[in-house]
Amino acid sequence: MALPRSDYLSNVWKDGIFDNKVVFCTGGGGTICSAQVRALVHLGANACIVGRNVEKTEAMARSIATARKGARVIGIGGLDVRKIETLEKAVERTVKELGGIDFVIAGAAGNFLSPISNLSPNAFKTVIDIDTIGSYNTLKATIPHLVASAKKHTNAASNPDTGGRIIFISASFHFTGMPLQTHAAVAKAGVDALSASVALEYGPRGVTSNILTPGPIAGTEGMERLGNKASEAAAMRKNPLQRYGSVKEIADGTVYLFSDAGNYVNGEVLVIDGGGWRSPGSLQPGSKQYPDYLLDDSFARKSKL
Ligand code: HXC
Repeated sequence: MALPRSDYLSNVWKDGIFDNKVVFCTGGGGTICSAQVRALVHLGANACIVGRNVEKTEAMARSIATARKGARVIGIGGLDVRKIETLEKAVERTVKELGGIDFVIAGAAGNFLSPISNLSPNAFKTVIDIDTIGSYNTLKATIPHLVASAKKHTNAASNPDTGGRIIFISASFHFTGMPLQTHAAVAKAGVDALSASVALEYGPRGVTSNILTPGPIAGTEGMERLGNKASEAAAMRKNPLQRYGSVKEIADGTVYLFSDAGNYVNGEVLVIDGGGWRSPGSLQPGSKQYPDYLLDDSFARKSKL
C-alpha cells in the first residue's frame, strides 16, 4: 500500500517536475535513501536502487514504486559498492531498461562505534572502503551518463530541465572530529573532498555535485544501532531545534538540489540537522557524559555498540 505523500514529501513541490528523469541510488534499501528516491519517484522519476541485501532492496523497490502509478523502480540486491564491476553492471541495466541516468545519490555507508584502541587497521579500512572508495566507484560507474544527461538538458540561456546531478550522502562529525567514529569521520571527510573536486572538474560539462548531510533522523537503522535512549535524549536537548529530523526533511533537500531551484548550487554541503552540528557533543553515545565514557577503558567492549 502506498504511503501518504505527507510522510515523505512536503506539499510545496509540483507533481511531474521529474517526469522522464532517472535516478540511480546506492544504499537504496535504507530508511533515508529510500525516502529520497520515493520523493523523486512521486514527482515523476523512475529509479534503480542498489544495496547489499537482496530481499530488502527488492522489497524496497516494490514499495517505492507505489509512490506513483506507472512508476518503474528496479531493485538490485547483492551489490557491494566496494566492487566497481557490480556497480557497472547495475548501471548498464539501468540505462538499458530506463533509458539513461540523470541523477545519482551515493548513499551506501557502513559504521559502528569503536574507540581507536579497539579499532583494527582492517576495521578502519573497511569503513573507508565502503564510504569513500564506494562513493568514488559510484561516481566512476555513473559519470559518463551524468555528462550525457547534462549535455541533453543544459540550455545555454536558461536551464529549465535538469540533469547530470550527483548527491553524496555525508555526515557532519568530521567538521569537529568525533570520538568512537574516527573511521567514519575520516571516510566522510574524503567524501566531502570528492564532491568538491567533482564540482570543479565536471562543472564545465554541466554536471553538479553536492553533499547532503543528514543530522540524527528518527527511525533510521544507523540511529537505532549507534544511538540509545540516553544519547537520543542528549541529542534532542543539545539540538537548537530540540528534536530529531525526519526522512521527509532529507527528501525535501534532495528534491531542492535536483530541481530547477537548485540549478546554481554546485560544490556545496547542505547540512539538514536543525543546526545540531554546531552544538558540540550532540551525538555522544552512551549514558555517560563526555569524556567520562572515553576514560573508561571497558566502555566500548561492555556496551555492545
Ligand atoms: C570494532 C568492528 C566492529 C565494531 C566490525 N568491526 N564491527 N570493529 N567494533 N563494532 C571490524 C571487524 O572485526 C573487522 O576487522 C572489520 O571491521 C570488518 O568487519 P566485517 O564484518 O568483515 O565487514 P563487513 O561484513 O564488510 O561489514 C561492514 C561493517 C558493518 C561496516 C563493519 O557494520 C556493516 O555492514 N554495517 C551495515 C551498514 C551500516 O553500518 N549502516 C549504517 C550506516 S549509518 P578485523 O580486524 O577483525 O578483520 C551511517 C551514518 C552515521 O553511516 C551517522 C549516525 C550517527
